[in-house]
Amino acid sequence: VVDMDHIASLIAVQKTLPGALLPILHAIQESAGYIPSESVPMIAQELNLSRAEVHGVISFYHYFRQHPAGRHVVQICRAEACQARGSAALEAHAKTVLGCDFHGTAKDGEFSLEAVYCLGQCACGPAIMINDELHARVSHGKLDRLLQAKRG
Ligand code: FES
Repeated sequence: VVDMDHIASLIAVQKTLPGALLPILHAIQESAGYIPSESVPMIAQELNLSRAEVHGVISFYHYFRQHPAGRHVVQICRAEACQARGSAALEAHAKTVLGCDFHGTAKDGEFSLEAVYCLGQCACGPAIMINDELHARVSHGKLDRLLQAKRG
């Protein structure tokens, strides 16, 4: 359950700063894990913006989640060196296995899938991160095993 009073206080603390919208959105996501839709009218009112303006910023930055994340976040590198090592096929496999697209969450709520652009493992891609763990040379089978291990 999201504590909307806490969200109201996060907005109140930052609203007078110049360019307050982004810091407010960051603070809400850090606290709640995503930007609850109920917070949009609150932010709009406090910053004298329209709801559409606030919503536009939230959807422009893929970093901001509009729904709670899965228990684990899987990031797949889409940068060039990993692409050359088969990351596109790995992406397709991950989307099929998880049943969601990038920036989506699997139906069971276990995993969210995100794109990332270089994890510093360019010589041994495809590279992925699961939460804060880095994995290199990820084959389809290796991804399946990693996901299975997280499901426990
Ligand atoms: Fe994927 Fe650098 S391109 S880790």
